Amino acid sequence: MTIPVLTIDGPSGAGKGTISRAIAQKLGWHYLDSGSIYRSLAIAVLNRGTDIQNAAAVAAVATGLVLEFECGETLSVTLDGLDITTQLGLEETGRVASTIAAYPDVRAVLLQKQKDFKQSPGLVADGRDMGSVVFPDAAVKVYLTASAEARALRRYKQLKEKGIDAILTQITQDIEERDRRDQERASAPLMVAEGAFYIDSSVMTVDEVMNEVLRLIH
Ligand code: DC
Repeated sequence: MTIPVLTIDGPSGAGKGTISRAIAQKLGWHYLDSGSIYRSLAIAVLNRGTDIQNAAAVAAVATGLVLEFECGETLSVTLDGLDITTQLGLEETGRVASTIAAYPDVRAVLLQKQKDFKQSPGLVADGRDMGSVVFPDAAVKVYLTASAEARALRRYKQLKEKGIDAILTQITQDIEERDRRDQERASAPLMVAEGAFYIDSSVMTVDEVMNEVLRLIH
């Protein structure tokens, strides 16, 4: 029996996580937040004091990475028996994740860990290369994006809601820098996968995007 996969790729802050989680819940499918795997590796590397410029050393940490994901209402992740859920969302974690994600050896090590998430009755996979590299045979592929300004504003509001001080221009700059790094790397860069449906959510509500993706699945 083939297990259906829906891939949702796109730049950071496009709303992939919110949409993917909601759709997985609605369909009763599994959910892969591949960014959290790169983020967990970033935390492991930072905790161990590994040189993040040393691709081989980072790949060695990736090989020994033991993670436990628990996906309920929200995602919680355990690394070496410690709950790292709150560290996952930090800007610093995202920056380091984006740097080490450019290493081909690191991506090769993490590939099978991601493929293992494909289990019955189905999978929603969110990331940068889900439709192009990890699940090229996915039943439905979506590329979800929004302008850098719209994404920065959403991120700014999220941080404010959590009581974290933030500067909008700095967030926009960080987002643009991360886009550039994720798009320009040689190994599995962020791109619109072949056959993917392109959705620009800049002026769409979460419900509108949800309905559009559900329409594509049906
Ligand atoms: O989606 P995110 O912001 O949590 O991802 C963090 C970083 O991980 C992102 O900047 C690039 C990397 N990443 C990747 O290279 N490939 C993926 N499939 C998912 C994330």
